[in-house]
Amino acid sequence: MTLDKTNPQKFSLTTPLYYVNDVPHIGSGYTTMIADVIARFERLKGKSVLLITGTDEHGQKIERTAQEKGVTPQEHCDRIVTRFDELWDKLNIKYDRFSRTTAPRHEAIVKEFYQRVWEQGDIYLAQQQGWYCVACEEFKEKRELLENGCCPLHPNKQAEWRDEENYFFRLSQYQEKLEDLYQKNPGFLEPESRRNEILNFIKGGLQDFSISRINVEWGFPIPNDPKHTIYVWFDALLGYITALLEPEQEATLDNALSQWWPINLHLIGKDILRFHAVYWPAMLMSARVSLPQRIFSHGFLTKDGQKMSKSLGNTLNPFDLIERYGSDAIRYYFLKEIDCGRDGDFNETRFVNVLNADLANDLGNLLNRTLGMIKKYCQGEGPQITGENLPLEHPLKAIGLDLSERIIHSYETLRFNQGCEEILALIRASNKFIDEQAPWSLFKQGQQAQVEGILYAVLESVRLSAYLLSPIIPNLSSRIYEQLGFLVDFNQADQVNQIVPFKQHTQWGILAANRVLPNPQPVFAKLELPAEETS
Ligand code: MSP
Repeated sequence: MTLDKTNPQKFSLTTPLYYVNDVPHIGSGYTTMIADVIARFERLKGKSVLLITGTDEHGQKIERTAQEKGVTPQEHCDRIVTRFDELWDKLNIKYDRFSRTTAPRHEAIVKEFYQRVWEQGDIYLAQQQGWYCVACEEFKEKRELLENGCCPLHPNKQAEWRDEENYFFRLSQYQEKLEDLYQKNPGFLEPESRRNEILNFIKGGLQDFSISRINVEWGFPIPNDPKHTIYVWFDALLGYITALLEPEQEATLDNALSQWWPINLHLIGKDILRFHAVYWPAMLMSARVSLPQRIFSHGFLTKDGQKMSKSLGNTLNPFDLIERYGSDAIRYYFLKEIDCGRDGDFNETRFVNVLNADLANDLGNLLNRTLGMIKKYCQGEGPQITGENLPLEHPLKAIGLDLSERIIHSYETLRFNQGCEEILALIRASNKFIDEQAPWSLFKQGQQAQVEGILYAVLESVRLSAYLLSPIIPNLSSRIYEQLGFLVDFNQADQVNQIVPFKQHTQWGILAANRVLPNPQPVFAKLELPAEETS
């Protein structure tokens, strides 16, 4: 089976739809930051982008949480959803759609989809027996559980025994088609280690899975048997499709699939791999819907090696972090310090050190002192030189000329850490260059042309770095561009490609000679640990 082509001018991507059992933590923020960076990068290239995020609001986990709090499930969901929205705003996430699975339009899509699968003969009634982890909303094999009867992801939540009648989806029918999908499309699921994991899982033999519950009221009723509700995962995955509807469109599958489907990229964490990489493609095949282009599974944020999660109580409060350090700093740290396909630990001291070294010292100070020298040595005007005047073997030009190509590749392959390191290599080379060349001495010796050549090359390298980092640190990049005399806000997604065209601004050497530059201002203040952390 080969995947359908997508429109090269459009790019649609999703974060998972987050459970609203609790307020968001930094783990939820991690997937969404990655998604926002990719969306911004695609917009910078000039594509029309649809970034979908949202919330997964049905199921037993939410039903129980609401009960414990003494509110109705809907009241509970409405309360928590505002916290997600607030967090996305504070993290400077520019999403296009927020898909809530309790939306009435979503019910229409779920029912139509269910009907298609039913008509395909892929749904039947049978007895379900097994261990259920409510926190995962998933049945587990006995051998998957720890000695204490909990699943490894929720070591303090007992799996519960279930023996009830459920509707099942004939996943087993799709065994061969799924194997074929993975054999023919190596890029469908990344990283490779996850692809191998899933391929082994499929080859091990697929079992049908239950898609209804009789003991859970908080969900959509099964159309032909309303004493059952639809299993939360069957419902939630379809939230990606509902999100594609335009606000005024009637909620039908055809409408939803007409403009943005197939989704270009589903971004997920490794704990929800099977749902996305096995169940979801099979459900789509059954309903005769083409498949998404690509799934990428990132690792976990850990604290002392353990997945950060609300149920373990080892999370970081993202609101506090943003309050203390600002959104750019947090985005930069998580994108630069963690290899996206692997787990990564958070440590606040390290966080502050990395930010101060990379953004305050290497980048911010470099810009500030270069601009200071330009004011002093170039009669208050920009250097009277352009990139073309400098030889190809110029140490900064030599790095700068093909840097963008490599960075574009790292964004497209989600190797953000590598991309950041490559950009930092140019920034560090620029610091070294200015120190070695000592333009202050050359100025005293009357070597004006040389001084201007040095300052130009450094300034241009800072500009290119800021441009390439703009999907990650849009506020800082905007401030740097402002210091270079450009009026651009990298947060204005719709305009940015017209104001700073991608083809032009990814070149090294585009700064015009004699550019009027504003007075130098610091662009990134040094971060400090809160008092109790330093003592
Ligand atoms: N509701 C489902 C997803 C349905 S998608 C149709 C769900 N929700 S979740 O809120 O539990 O998790 C959402 C995402 O957050 C997952 O991709 C998960 O991997 C991610 N993270 C939750 N904790 C995390 C870390 N500690 N680290 C990194 N990501 C983590 O699953």
